[in-house]
Amino acid sequence: MPDENLIPIYIMGKRYLVPPSLTIQRAMEYAGYALLRGCGCRGGFCGACATVYRVGDDYKLKIGLACQTVVEPEMYLAQIPSFPARRAQYRLEELKPTMGTLLQLYPELLRCLSCGTCTKACPQELDVRDYMALAMRGDIAAVADKSFDCIMCGLCTARCPAEEVQYNIGILCRRLYGRYLAPRSQHLIERVAEIEAGAFDEALAAMRVLPDQELRTQYNAREIEPE
Ligand code: FES
Repeated sequence: MPDENLIPIYIMGKRYLVPPSLTIQRAMEYAGYALLRGCGCRGGFCGACATVYRVGDDYKLKIGLACQTVVEPEMYLAQIPSFPARRAQYRLEELKPTMGTLLQLYPELLRCLSCGTCTKACPQELDVRDYMALAMRGDIAAVADKSFDCIMCGLCTARCPAEEVQYNIGILCRRLYGRYLAPRSQHLIERVAEIEAGAFDEALAAMRVLPDQELRTQYNAREIEPE
């Protein structure tokens, strides 16, 4: 691409000219960076590519996922591939799904100021302040629900003036919910028992030796929601 069609961006303070259609991640590679850290799925799911940036002379600090955000002229970029957030050690099977567990593992929870900085920082547009308020009330099921789309990028924690670890509290609640609170599915329990009893061994063995195309045909012709 001719130089006049490129736009200037700054990566760790150094100026580069890059095509305007690229994501931050692609622009960094265009500029010659090999992304050994801060890059995973490239699809907006893994949370590895958290990035903070400013544009031009604007004081406002913005956030984004490098794999999803397209570059703008005069973008000043810094990657935050990991943040030194505290993560409590626990064995899930020894915990109880209670407010006491949250406070025992994350006593800092009660320091939340409800300022909403975490919500503004979330690239998933989750209302992090809201789920922290629910956590302070011990409503584990609601925290699990409201934090469900968290990709653990850590930007909420990086920006929090109260030094909370919102995303680690969220995943603790999702784990507690999954193990202790979520309703059990009877048909799943029965199907697992059938599998363990070998009811599908023969069918699976027959499938393993099928040619690729035949496997695809059978997959596409399967009954999706049997009555
Ligand atoms: S690389 Fe996985 S979210 Fe961006």
